[in-house]
Amino acid sequence: MNVLVINGPNLNMLGKREPETYGHLSLEQINADLTKYAKSLGININFVQSNAEHVLIDNIHSAFEKVDFIVINPGAFTHTSVALRDALLSVSIPFIEVHLSNVHARESFRQHSYLSDVAHGVICGLGAQGYEFAITAAKSFLSK
Ligand code: DQA
Repeated sequence: MNVLVINGPNLNMLGKREPETYGHLSLEQINADLTKYAKSLGININFVQSNAEHVLIDNIHSAFEKVDFIVINPGAFTHTSVALRDALLSVSIPFIEVHLSNVHARESFRQHSYLSDVAHGVICGLGAQGYEFAITAAKSFLSK
């Protein structure tokens, strides 16, 4: 089982960036914890973070027929990117959209997602634990 975890723009700043909204853990710490957790579930996990839309899209294309499941926090591209939606649809890889913050309790522009209606599921507002829940859900989806 191969799972790819994708983080979009500004998520490299986790730990420093608005910690009251996004928490105190860095992306490196989150990914290290996820690596251990995925191993315990027998999942092979890989990570990508980029601030550039085209890099995220290229990584999604490269996942075609190699990756079984994607966990993606698209950051602000959630609310802007038809291209990211099309990239995910183009590879037909099931994915879960994760947000650390509860986007529905924030500014109105964060309440629309270009991905949610084509996602296997959406997790938001649970902080870094949301990634762990997404991997748990990926495991049960792929075990069926
Ligand atoms: C975010 C929510 C987005 O609205 C925001 O632009 C982010 C992070 C989250 O994880 O809560 O960069 O995706």
